[in-house]
Formats: sequence, C-alpha cells, structure tokens
Amino acid sequence: SAAQKGGFETYMLKEIYEQPEAIRETLRGRISGNQIILPKLDGLDLSAIDRIYIVGCGTAYHVGIYGSTLLQRWLPISAISTPASEFRYGHPVVDEHTLCIYISQSGETADTLAALKMTNEMGAQSIAIANVLGSSISRLANVTLYTCAGPEVAVASTKAFTTQLVLITLLIIKIAEMMGRRPQEADAVLHDLKRMPEIVDDMLKKSDEVKEYAELLKDQHDAYFIGRQLDYVSVLEGALKLKEISYVHADAYYAGELKHGPIALIEQGTVVIAMATQPEVAAKTISNIEETMARGANVILITNKEQPALKFDRVMRIPEIHPTLTCIPVTILLQLLAYHTATEKGRDVDKPRNLAKSVTVE
Ligand code: G6P
Repeated sequence: SAAQKGGFETYMLKEIYEQPEAIRETLRGRISGNQIILPKLDGLDLSAIDRIYIVGCGTAYHVGIYGSTLLQRWLPISAISTPASEFRYGHPVVDEHTLCIYISQSGETADTLAALKMTNEMGAQSIAIANVLGSSISRLANVTLYTCAGPEVAVASTKAFTTQLVLITLLIIKIAEMMGRRPQEADAVLHDLKRMPEIVDDMLKKSDEVKEYAELLKDQHDAYFIGRQLDYVSVLEGALKLKEISYVHADAYYAGELKHGPIALIEQGTVVIAMATQPEVAAKTISNIEETMARGANVILITNKEQPALKFDRVMRIPEIHPTLTCIPVTILLQLLAYHTATEKGRDVDKPRNLAKSVTVE
C-alpha cells in the first residue's frame, strides 16, 4: 500500500531515499575518534593470514570487488573477489591461513552459503556481512557484522549495497590494523565516511537532473558503462541496476579495455556512461571517453573534478571526497538513472521480470 511505501511510488524509490539514514545507522557506534569499533572481530586471530577471499552474488559480489581492491592496496597479501557460484566450483586455495569474507543482504543465498560451508570445512576463518538479523549465514560464519539498512523489499538492491560498502570499508581498515598495517589514509577515509549521510543526501537532490539523462536512455537498446579501478565497481553496479529494472541492455567495461573490442559497437548516438573519479587514472578514462565521442557517442560523465569536464555536455558532479569512497555517491546517481529510465518505460521496478529478491536454490 501507499502507506507501506512511506508516500513513495515504489519500494525501490523509498529505499533509495532511505540511504542517508541507513548509512548513518550502519556507522552508528562503529567509529570513535579515529578508531573503528568492531569488537566481534576480537575473537579472530588474523596474525597468520596470507590470503583473503571475498565472496557474494549479484550486487554483493560488486561489494567484493570493491573490498578486494582496497585489500590489494593496503595489504601485501593476495586478495581475490569471486562470485559464490564460481568460487565454490573453482578449486580455490583455502587453508587455515585463509580469511573468507561473505557478503549477503538476505544471508540466505544458496551459493553463498554453500561456499561458506566449503571454506569452513577447509579450515578457513570467516566473516559475514549480512543485513537480515539471525539469517542462515550468521550460523555458519565465525563472525557476522550487520548492515543496518532495515528491510529491503524491492528486488533491485540499493540501500543494502551502499551500507555494505560502508561496512566493508570499516572492516578492511580494521583487518589491516589487526595485521599491523593501518593504512596511511585511514583517518581521511573515516573522516569522509562520517560525512557520507549528508553527501548521499546531496546526491538525492540531483534526482531531477538525472531524470533528464534518463530521457536520453529510455529509447536506447544498449548502454555502455566505463571506468577504471574503483570506478569499475560503480560501472558494474550501474549497468546491473539499469538492466535489472529497465531491461535496457547495459554492458560494463574497464575503460582501458574499450579499444580491445567494445569500441566496435560505438556509433552515432550510442550512450556511454563514464565514471572518472579516481585521480590516478581519471585522465586516462577521459581520453577513452573522447575516443567514443569521436565515433558519435553521447556521453554522460560522472566526475568530481572541474577541469576535465569542460568539454562535455552532460556532466554530473560528486563532491570532493576521498577517492576510496566515491563509489557511494556515484552509485546514488546511477540508481536514480536506472530508476527514472525504468519508470519512463513503464516498468514494474519493484518486481522486475524473472528476478527474485533472494535466490535460495542453486
Ligand atoms: C538476487 C537479488 C540481488 C542480490 C543477489 C544476492 O539476485 O535480486 O539484488 O544482489 O540476489 O543476494 P544476497 O541476499 O545474497 O545479497
């Protein structure tokens, strides 16, 4: 009913707008000054860990890619993210020196639970990130940390994803600390994490601006999302959201891979949605974007810098925040982009065809 949707047209829109509060709740009590408070981790012994896997499905897998990217930056050990359905059949190297992090909103996804059972049997330690209290995953993992997003009803994940990003950032800084290597950037990242509810709120105010870009997308057969490094997480999530709820075919590519194939698909009027928020690689992405424009692409650029955006017609800006965290505000814009495109096309955004909220069978 309309009341259950809190006055919003759909659950998904309600949940998109709940993100500032969901993030605030997920952070609550977990940062004190510059310290991360996650006492449940005290029971783990991470001193001999030499390998970390992050495993999940769908949107949760994208959080895994974010997490393993941070781990690779901050720790001199192997960190890999794999979808649960591949991980469990992929013969991963797992032993008592392995830590496995499992991500699942519902805590009930069959492949994720099966992978966790497997690594338990192989002697690994495990941490789960879940949203549903007391879900099956919490009975299998050594430690379960909860996102405090509240119930997520819409099939396409929104507030679960952004709160998972928040929580895994805290978790990974904490793991690095427990392994004697607190990242240099930790203070700066925590500072901006605390601002995240307000930053997300500012992004939500751009909804009308995003709607104009949805006009451009609604009659397209295809859309191409590109970005590098941590922007690639936003790229994957943005493309997935668009596919799921609007049924516009969307591909996600590393910007540097364009010239190895996908650029053959770019023609007059093709829509390219590009992210350039990572200082080390933004200029490279901008030059990839220009290559698509030279072939007639209509580009929507999401960036945080004034200068490189001058030559682009359609630019959305996120605030200047630590580059580790840009995926969160960028994702808000991409959620809105998918949402407006889907509603323009008259789709049932809360219950997209063929999809289930929780996939409890293989
Ligand atoms: C389904 C949902 C997705 C979700 C995935 C994993 O496919 O439609 O939104 O990302 O399952 O769900 P989980 O509950 O494990 O996070």
